[in-house]
Amino acid sequence: MIGAGSRRIVITGGNAGIGLALARKLADRHRLLITGRKQPGDVAGVIPSGVSYVVADQSDPEASAHALVAGLGDLGWDALDNAVLNAGVGYAALDGFDTTDAIRETLDINLAAAIAQAHALYPFLERSRGTLTFVGSVAHRGSAAIPAYAASKAGLHGLARALRSEWGGRVAVQILHPGPTRTDMHEKAGYDPGRLRALFLDADDTAKMMAAAIASRRSPVTTSWLRYLVGGAFTGRRL
Ligand SMILES: NC(=O)c1ccc[n+]([C@@H]2O[C@H](COP(=O)([O-])OP(=O)(O)OC[C@H]3O[C@@H](n4cnc5c(N)ncnc54)[C@H](OP(=O)(O)O)[C@@H]3O)[C@@H](O)[C@H]2O)c1
Repeated sequence: MIGAGSRRIVITGGNAGIGLALARKLADRHRLLITGRKQPGDVAGVIPSGVSYVVADQSDPEASAHALVAGLGDLGWDALDNAVLNAGVGYAALDGFDTTDAIRETLDINLAAAIAQAHALYPFLERSRGTLTFVGSVAHRGSAAIPAYAASKAGLHGLARALRSEWGGRVAVQILHPGPTRTDMHEKAGYDPGRLRALFLDADDTAKMMAAAIASRRSPVTTSWLRYLVGGAFTGRRL
């Protein structure tokens, strides 16, 4: 284990939304490699200084895992303390029917790529007895407007349970289920939450609760309003 305050951390989907909020929170104290689909030039002003970035497009799951491992190699990292597999997409379905393209893309990006990346990162995490964190969603229990998205997150939930048991004692595996959070994801998904958006959590608060949950290594952990109201963004262990 690398000493506290100098962890080597991967965050997928770290160039926007919740992943970026988490990267900003951790960048001062830890070494970060973040990923996204966008080209480096498009995120240059967004990423915190000192944070490394690699393009790892998860619509090709295996290629994204290779890109991630190549990124670790470029940094000379042979071990990882934390991997936060956070990148994700969703599409609003009409009358509960997702298009075939939306189903494939959602399952590839949210689930298949996370599986491929988890496998590829295992040896790096094992070397430092690290923690693998999947980012699910409260929608994993089912959500009418986003069935393929809900299915992808339910799949991640099952995957996390399986790997937590299989990899126990070598790599800690957990899944976090954020509640609705103010990011651009809903607009990208073609979903307008309307006035409900005012009730969404701030991405910084979701990131704070996630950081404490990651430090705890517990699983599953829901980071929603309920946890926020009992002080979840201001208590818990520091990552
Ligand atoms: N916001 C919420 O209400 C909410 C609630 C529960 C769970 N979540 C989960 O939290 C995670 C982050 O969501 P968010 O709200 O922060 O979304 P966001 O603001 O839309 O950010 C999504 C991130 O994922 C990356 N990404 C998307 N498609 C990708 C691909 N094909 N390959 C690589 N990276 C890709 C994006 O990179 P590019 O910008 O380069 O495309 C971006 O960094 C997701 O797993 C989401 O399901 C969100």
